[in-house]
Amino acid sequence: MDYILPLADDSFGEEEKHAMLSVIDSGNYTMGERVEEFEEAFSDWIGTSHSVMVNSGSSANLLLVYSQIVSSFQKDLLKPGDEVLVPALLWPTTIWPLVQFGLKPVLVDICLDSLAMDLDDSKKKITNKTKAIFLIHVLGYACDMSKYVHFCQSNNLFLLEDCCESFGAFDKSKHVGSFGQGGTFSHFFSHHLTTMEGGTITSNSLALSDDLKSMRAHGWVRNRSDIQKFSNQYKNLDKRFLFLMPGFNVRPMEIQAAVGLVQLGRMDELLSHRDHFAKYIIDAFEGIDWLRVAGANRNRINVKRESRNHSWMNISFIIDENCPVLPSEVVKIFENSGIETRPIITGNFANQPAAKYISQLTSYPNAQIISDRGFMIGCHATKITELLSESINAVSAKLSSF
Ligand SMILES: Cc1ncc(COP(=O)(O)O)c(C=O)c1O
Repeated sequence: MDYILPLADDSFGEEEKHAMLSVIDSGNYTMGERVEEFEEAFSDWIGTSHSVMVNSGSSANLLLVYSQIVSSFQKDLLKPGDEVLVPALLWPTTIWPLVQFGLKPVLVDICLDSLAMDLDDSKKKITNKTKAIFLIHVLGYACDMSKYVHFCQSNNLFLLEDCCESFGAFDKSKHVGSFGQGGTFSHFFSHHLTTMEGGTITSNSLALSDDLKSMRAHGWVRNRSDIQKFSNQYKNLDKRFLFLMPGFNVRPMEIQAAVGLVQLGRMDELLSHRDHFAKYIIDAFEGIDWLRVAGANRNRINVKRESRNHSWMNISFIIDENCPVLPSEVVKIFENSGIETRPIITGNFANQPAAKYISQLTSYPNAQIISDRGFMIGCHATKITELLSESINAVSAKLSSF
């Protein structure tokens, strides 16, 4: 079925296409100067001193977690068996690196307004083995970071930020991705800034960014700022093939960086379009008191970057317990009107068969509400067409009739 409002939309224009062609014309396809340029521009945008581009948001999570286990400079590291608090409403590759490296993800319930990790439940889940939290800024909602930073500082925990769904979200003084040890971003197709596939890790530590660069490419020292130090130390080894630490190959390609640079330049425009898009949808359903858009009270239009504490990715609806129709009926009405729907992220992850890889599961009542009575639709960086407007109005009229 061709949807009037699909979940994902193409935000590429002529400039992106031209950027892709220029890479092909250059014949330089593999990671090079465009990636470096993108990393610099990305840091400038987010306000961190360093960024390391990789081939996906999942790879960004993989490297960020690994960099807290193996390090060329950090003494205090995570060890197998250490516990890491993670919200029960998560994306699987937020927790898989933890599982894969022998750490223990401990799921925490969420808040129903921010859809992010609930600090009261976090306090209950903390033990003397808890060493870190992997916080997710869900679907564009910037967490109230003073609270999470305070929680981490008072419990001596590392703070890792998964910002894969929240490029552009700003909390009081800073962009998300600049509060903790590191922040991860996804540039997958439907995300705010897309490079088709891609991801970036932000940090304010040169030493960490050097380790991430080694881990990104086989564990070698190429691309590190301190390459000369190792080259002097190991004079008998060719510095192009000097391996310092365990690594992967999760390098991005030049074509991704070239597209990313164009997208970065368009971000203010594209995020602003998303704000307007979200406003249209929020307004259309405002009169239905049993249907709530998560984060609706944070929707602002025509704002500067520093005022955008919700950077709209998808639009999540939560249906009230006393809803006059079944949630499945509501979803069907959207679908039948050409509006594609899906669960909010994965819903309560404890319900997934893969949750058997997580020990110590309990119940997560708020995450369960998201599974039972939540769904989401697309939010695009485009204008609302007449056809879409008709379709939204038809859904709204139908739901109002119950
Ligand atoms: C919270 C979160 N983390 C990580 C990822 C993984 O990003 P990618 O699809 O680029 O691997 C996603 C993907 O949407 C996500 O939503």
